[in-house]
Parts: sequence; C-alpha cells; structure tokens
Amino acid sequence: MSMMGAGVRPGDEVLCPAFTYWSSAAGILQQGGIPVFVDIDPKTYTIDPVLIEEQITENTTAILAVHIHGLVADMDPINEIAAKHGLWVVEDACQAHGATYKGRKAGSLGNVAGFSCNRSKCLSGGEGGILTTNDADIAEVANRCRQINAIDQPNREGFNVYALGWGYRPHELVNAFICSQMDRFDENLARRREFAAFLSEQLADIPGFDGPYTPDYAESCFFTYVVSFDPRQLGLDVSAAEWRKAAGKALAAEGIGLGNWQYEPMPAMNVFADKVGFGKGFPWSFPGARQDIVYRGEDYPRTIEFIATHGYLGGVFPPNEMDLIERYVEGFQKVSENAHRALELAEE
Ligand SMILES: Cc1ncc(COP(=O)(O)O)c(C=O)c1O
Repeated sequence: MSMMGAGVRPGDEVLCPAFTYWSSAAGILQQGGIPVFVDIDPKTYTIDPVLIEEQITENTTAILAVHIHGLVADMDPINEIAAKHGLWVVEDACQAHGATYKGRKAGSLGNVAGFSCNRSKCLSGGEGGILTTNDADIAEVANRCRQINAIDQPNREGFNVYALGWGYRPHELVNAFICSQMDRFDENLARRREFAAFLSEQLADIPGFDGPYTPDYAESCFFTYVVSFDPRQLGLDVSAAEWRKAAGKALAAEGIGLGNWQYEPMPAMNVFADKVGFGKGFPWSFPGARQDIVYRGEDYPRTIEFIATHGYLGGVFPPNEMDLIERYVEGFQKVSENAHRALELAEE
C-alpha cells in the first residue's frame, strides 16, 4: 500500500537495501516496480546513503529505507538525496514499531511508511499492518488498495470500476487486536530495551561476541537482537565467518538459536537473479523499463560479510522474563570458555 501511495507503477525503479527481509522487495514487485539494490553500511546494516546516488537513473521514483532488526536507517542523508532528485521516501517500518531517529519515531521519517503487525512483530494483531503518512494524497491513493476494485470514484454516479486494487481490507478483529495491544505497547517496548541493554552489557565482557551497534542518532526497538561474532577477542586464528559457524552450532546445542533474515544478498535470489518476478519477465519486460539491470549477489560484499558474521537472537522480549536472558548469557559464556572445543566440534 505504501508503494501504491508513493505512486510506484510498472517499470519504475525503487532503491532497496540488499540486506533486508524479502518482503521489502516483494512490495516493490507487487506494484510492478523494479527493485534496484544498494549495499549496506557495515556497522548499522541498513542502506548506506553514500551508495544511493550512483544507483539513481531516470526511472528511479522512490527509495525504500528499511529499518531492519529494529534499527532505523540513517534518514537525514536519505531524505536529502530524495529531495535533490525528486524521489519519494518510503519507510519499511515493519520491524521498527517505536524505534526512533533523532527522537522522531519510525513511520514519521519519510513520505509514507508501512508497519507489519503479523504474529512476530513488536505490535501484533496476529496479522495485519499499519500505513502512516502525513500526505492526504498519498493516503487517498494507497487506500485504493483496500478494495479489489477501486469503486468509490468521486464525481461519478453509480457503480464504476476505475482502477485495480489489491483487496487489502483488514479484518476488523485483527484491527481490534492491534488496538488492544497498543495499551501494552510502551511497557513491552521498555522491557525489550531493558533485556537488550542487559544482554549487551554482559556480552561486552564475554570474549567472542558482541551485541548490536547502535549509532547516536537511533534508539532501537530491538525487534530482534543482533549478535556479532569476533574471534580476535579470543585470540583465535579463524575468520569471523568460521567462528560464527562453529559458535552458532555450539550455541544451538545450548538451546540458543540464532537466525538470519537471508543467507545471501537479496539480488542473488532467483526471483531477481533470473528475473522471474511475476513470470514472463515482468516487471523487467515492461515497455520503457531499463533492460541492462543485472542482479548478482557478489556485487554486495558488505551484505555477504554481515550475513556471514552476524546472527539474530529471538525471544529477547516479553512475555519472556529476565531469567531467560540470564540463561542466554550463561550459554554465551560457556561457548566462549570452550571456543577451541566448539571449533573442533564444528569440523566433525
Ligand atoms: C522488513 C520486513 N518488511 C516487510 C514485511 C512484511 O510484513 P507482512 O508479513 O506483515 O506482510 C516483514 C515481515 O515479515 C519484514 O520483516
């Protein structure tokens, strides 16, 4: 709906980070838009504003800033570049309920934003979502997605289908759940931040691991808790990727499962690499669309590096209690103390 509201139409190019959850790019494709990927800042793992301008072409209409893992993208430079080139800024705030940038909340940092409220999210209705914008025109256009047929055309009598929508009418029960969760949202968010702060403090003293980097401009909502793997802290002569692999296995044996949103940069996925899209080459085959776009995972080395050397931890949120977080700390401690054994076991 955000893409629709921002006017993304077939053949338009939308810049999107190479590291995100696949749905970010799916939202672009669903409007017939063509995702053009940009590598990430290695520290913040969000889109690197410095790399954006070189990807802008005459077909570019929007920048999708994804606030991944609960950390907001660096929005000031993104908005500046967008203003300079006449582009819309869409926030993918699906993982960022309550996260802030320079004191302002995610969802108020671009032209339009989409939040997911599916079962895993910080604000959940089981399914569903929220769109935010302060632009009445964007709201009106985005709202057309609610119906299969955009039927309520102003200034025309009778039933007239004048455009195609997507049937995104949310279920009222889902909306009611989301509204009721709002009452507990601030408390839950504070608890997430408390758990994350405790874990980061502890991991700082456990060689081999670190918690997520948070730049001064941001307050994360810690949708998921990012762990980085550093073998140098243990004096190990292996790469961070090898350590991540070995330690990940040992942590799993301790009951600590670490996940990744993706295992390779988004452009390496077949839907892009083979330009599958909707089938029959659409949207790349749309008249006027740029024909020279090539999707290759290896063009995104920072995304590759980030995926190989990080993982995310779930469960760092209520209704879990601090005792679970303390157990996590014990597990990290044990793996750190037995790092050589973890590396040996990984070989077996
Ligand atoms: C970054 C990101 N964008 C988009 C989505 C899509 O949200 P939904 O599953 O509610 O469609 C998700 C959630 O899965 C997500 O994590």
